[in-house]
Amino acid sequence: MRRALITGITGQDGAYLSSFLLDKGYEVHGIMRRASTFNTDRIDHLYRDPHESGARLFLHYGDLQDGSSLRRILQKSQPDEVYNLGAQSHVKVSFELSEYSADVVGTGVLRLLEAVRDFTGSSGKQVRVYQAGSSEMFGAAKPPQNETTPFYPRSPYAVAKVAGYWYCVNYREAYNMFVTNGILFNHESPLRGETFVTRKITRGLGRIKKGLQKKLFLGNLDARRDWGFAGDYVEAMWMMLQHQEPGDFVVATGEAYSVRDFLDAAGEKMGLDWKQYVEIDPRYMRPTEVDYLMGDPAKARNTFGWKPKVTFRELVGMMVEHDLELAEQERTLMKAGHSVALRGVANG
Ligand code: NAP
Ligand code: GDD
Repeated sequence: MRRALITGITGQDGAYLSSFLLDKGYEVHGIMRRASTFNTDRIDHLYRDPHESGARLFLHYGDLQDGSSLRRILQKSQPDEVYNLGAQSHVKVSFELSEYSADVVGTGVLRLLEAVRDFTGSSGKQVRVYQAGSSEMFGAAKPPQNETTPFYPRSPYAVAKVAGYWYCVNYREAYNMFVTNGILFNHESPLRGETFVTRKITRGLGRIKKGLQKKLFLGNLDARRDWGFAGDYVEAMWMMLQHQEPGDFVVATGEAYSVRDFLDAAGEKMGLDWKQYVEIDPRYMRPTEVDYLMGDPAKARNTFGWKPKVTFRELVGMMVEHDLELAEQERTLMKAGHSVALRGVANG
């Protein structure tokens, strides 16, 4: 049985990737952070008590800021493949938590690579590493962006991702390690964190539609992004590690839409004129914005045959349906006298 280790298993991509790898017959190990509240909602449905026979998903406490935890977990889990998805992944928040973001998103990659290098040395096991790079690394570079486009990062998060990218290239060249950088453009789903713009919109409009909220406050509606479906993108991560050679690969749909376009599509699907409810709040603007990301995924398509399956409209539809249902559940709870959480969008 092949074994995979995933950092960031409790995040959106971690949940989709775990499910994908379990379906492929893998034993999956995940690194989770200790938190004072439960943070495993996205993977609870995949988890079985390890005392039960047949359990194939195992969780370990660890942190990308703690190299010794990474080393210990590598020894325990003996992985064939390591997927580094862990990150403080919110661009706007990285302006507020800049040193922390640099440490987790940039230096965290170095800690993991060092731990894998030593693990390989002591165990003799060849490990394949996937690094979650980002289209944010292209930042202000002109679209369409591909593997040869020079990076021009525009936030502490993006600068740290560029550092992580180069650590990976360096370890590949210096130690002949199998380390691959995925350069993924934005990918969304009903499991997307609620402070990223797509989910903030489907959550907010859903709650407005059900009478739970009056306004939705957003920032720059003109930014354009290449939005795909997270379920399609985790398949690309896996395909990259099955390819005979490590490398750097852009994963994108090749189409871009503005935040305004997303609002139009979501509003139409809900039967709601969003213009009546959306207001601009400058606190959601970024000190340096990334205006236009649109990827060219030709290399991934030609090298290992990856292409996206879910269209932009299908993605919006899937998120809208999910969040209308969620708002309906909240309304039912409210009617029964339960207090409904004010969604934490302070920094979204
Ligand atoms: P996400 O939902 O924000 O999940 C991030 C994960 O990282 C969570 O499991 C989080 O744990 C964990 N994490 C945070 N700090 C950590 C630390 N110090 N040590 C270990 N784990 C830590 O992000 P995502 O959307 O799944 O994205 C996955 C990866 O792809 C990230 O590296 C992100 O930067 C990158 N990426 C994402 C996109 C996208 O559009 N989604 C595009 C390009 C690249 P908690 O649950 O405890 O917070
Ligand atoms: N979050 C947020 N909240 N974004 C807003 C808002 C708002 O209220 N209003 C407008 N936007 C704009 C942002 O300014 C940005 O231009 C765009 O919507 C997308 O913002 P996010 O959804 O926060 O995503 P992101 O593109 O900054 O970053 C995501 O994608 C990257 C890949 O390109 C994250 O998932 C990163 O981790 C990932 O690397």
